[in-house]
Amino acid sequence: MELNGKTALITGGISGIGRATARGLALEGVRTIALVDMGEDTASVAEEMNRELEREIMIPYRGDVVDTDFRERVFANMEERFGLVNLCVPAAGITRDRLAVKIDKKSDPVKLDLYSESDFRRVLDVDLIAPIYWALRCAGSVAQDRAKRGLKRWEPDEMVQGAIVLIGSVSSAGNRGQISYATAKAGLEGAQATLAMEAIFHGVRCAIIHPGFTDTPMVQALGEKIVQEQVLPNTQLRRLIRPDEIAEAIVFLLKNSAVSGRLWADAGWHPSA
Ligand SMILES: NC(=O)c1ccc[n+]([C@@H]2O[C@H](COP(=O)([O-])OP(=O)(O)OC[C@H]3O[C@@H](n4cnc5c(N)ncnc54)[C@H](O)[C@@H]3O)[C@@H](O)[C@H]2O)c1
Repeated sequence: MELNGKTALITGGISGIGRATARGLALEGVRTIALVDMGEDTASVAEEMNRELEREIMIPYRGDVVDTDFRERVFANMEERFGLVNLCVPAAGITRDRLAVKIDKKSDPVKLDLYSESDFRRVLDVDLIAPIYWALRCAGSVAQDRAKRGLKRWEPDEMVQGAIVLIGSVSSAGNRGQISYATAKAGLEGAQATLAMEAIFHGVRCAIIHPGFTDTPMVQALGEKIVQEQVLPNTQLRRLIRPDEIAEAIVFLLKNSAVSGRLWADAGWHPSA
């Protein structure tokens, strides 16, 4: 798919993988990128990136990705200004890590301490339901644009009209301490497979990438000791992946229409039992 001149939307766009992807897409000639994030510095990061890229490409939108009204406002504004949103990388994500089943050793009689249900629901809201809905809305943007032009079922000679990359994780295959995050990321697989089947009717592709441990604030928050002792020894690369390496793979998935399904970019992650 030709990315030059297209319009993109990235959630979690001011940090880590999202930010690197925004930069990567800008270098591919994408015309405009909605940079969606709840971070206080959303506007200043967009400004800084525009300065570096020497054009007004990043448009900041600050809000919570789980907020339906916010999502609709962002798409409505983008569509009013640019017609449609062709590309979507819903990368905003959080972790709430903790072992799922613990025993409170201090209590007598022994008390169970299970993973918090409210944390579980928040992780599912942010990491599973929100990215799916931002992706659906992007497919909807392309579908609406084509319908306005009187087009029905997409035909190959029309060229691919849109592409979505969901951000999974190596944790989708299971990871100690990540019951909610692993569930959310595994759920994205089902969404990707289904959306890939449905959205091609409108000329939109959908893929998923499963990154391994990448050097972003999310992983830095684990602390150096955990990274050195529990992460790096379980990878073949024995270093954290750079965000630009994941961004490059995401750009590849968006661009190359022959590629479907999932890509593992995991630095050879092979955790022991
Ligand atoms: N870093 C890794 O090792 C790794 C590995 C696999 C998958 N991932 C996934 O990649 C994506 C990006 O992660 P990252 O490592 O770049 O993290 P990061 O913490 O650097 O960036 C995440 C961004 O999402 C934003 N965000 C979080 N919740 C939000 C919300 N509710 N509304 C709006 N914005 C919100 C944050 O403000 C932040 O800017 C996530 O989906 C993450 O699960 C990361």
